[in-house]
Amino acid sequence: MIEIQNLTKDFGAIKAVDDLSLIVPEGITCGFLGPNGAGKTTTIKILTNLISATGGKAFLHGVDAIAHPKEALSHVGAVVETPEFYPYLTPVETLAYLGRIRGMHHDEIKSRSNEVLGEVKLEQWRTTRIGKFSKGMKQRLAIAQALLHEPDILILDEPTTGLDPRGMVEVREIIRNLKRQNYTIFMSSHLLVEVQEVCDKAALIDHGKLLVYDSMDNLKKLTKLGKIEVTVLGQVQDAFLNIVRELKNVRAVERINGSIFIVTLEGQSNEMAELLSAIQGMGAKVASFSQVGLPLELMYMDLVKESR
Ligand SMILES: Nc1ncnc2c1ncn2[C@@H]1O[C@H](COP(=O)(O)OP(=O)(O)OP(=O)(O)O)[C@@H](O)[C@H]1O
Ligand SMILES: [Mg+2]
Repeated sequence: MIEIQNLTKDFGAIKAVDDLSLIVPEGITCGFLGPNGAGKTTTIKILTNLISATGGKAFLHGVDAIAHPKEALSHVGAVVETPEFYPYLTPVETLAYLGRIRGMHHDEIKSRSNEVLGEVKLEQWRTTRIGKFSKGMKQRLAIAQALLHEPDILILDEPTTGLDPRGMVEVREIIRNLKRQNYTIFMSSHLLVEVQEVCDKAALIDHGKLLVYDSMDNLKKLTKLGKIEVTVLGQVQDAFLNIVRELKNVRAVERINGSIFIVTLEGQSNEMAELLSAIQGMGAKVASFSQVGLPLELMYMDLVKESR
């Protein structure tokens, strides 16, 4: 379990983390979402003892991470910022070196190295120099080193940032596999789709403050706004769109071309059905009617906008 209590970090006048409280229950994968500069890395650096907090507390498995970082972090694996490895070493050599620093036994390092390199699908490259690795492979190695000492909490700062689409998919797949093994995972991201794909819960922050924290399911239910793309046969007139704009639950109408327009609608399936029959009732022949964009994305943008 990860417990953050009223955590604060000031950099001069900037409140990078502002009275943040959050509990990640055991075995849960929690996304830590926020735009650039929201305070994600700062929070993660405090949790992993890379910087100190101005105020507040953090507990990892009930151990005070600020007062007793060594003990608190003994069951934590972390990847913070883009990790650098010695280019002339191989993954096996790198893990041996890191394992020794962590006080692991030779035999343990050897068996764990094989396991963790398998976990991140680098077993074929175990004796290749890291200098030859792609960014995605280096990131997978970073996850492997985080797993080496058999932690049960994983803290990952933007694990897919800077990777190409294939690299992103591979890293997300690895995280999903770890999630199935019941690790408690706290991962920051500025990509909502990624959090939706991988996480059970999500915390949204901006300006160091928590905006919302809930299960992905509840967050999806909370989303009220949807965008619907409507295609009609023939041309739609401006007068027609003006009437649509005045319909119940409609927030905005945007013309795409002569026969396609997008309606921003407050509501879900019932409201969508009502909108469809209203448009048909006005004599339009609807060729297609479908939701575009993720409602959650819109809510995220709304929340971030409101907090600014
Ligand atoms: N060492 C520092 N000195 C001064 N200000 C800092 C320092 N580190 C971070 N900040 C500021 O604190 C705020 C939060 O930064 P942080 O790096 O935690 O954001 P982030 O959510 O990780 O953003 P990103 O998505 O860009 O990684 C920003 O305004 C940043 O400029
Ligand atoms: Mg960051």
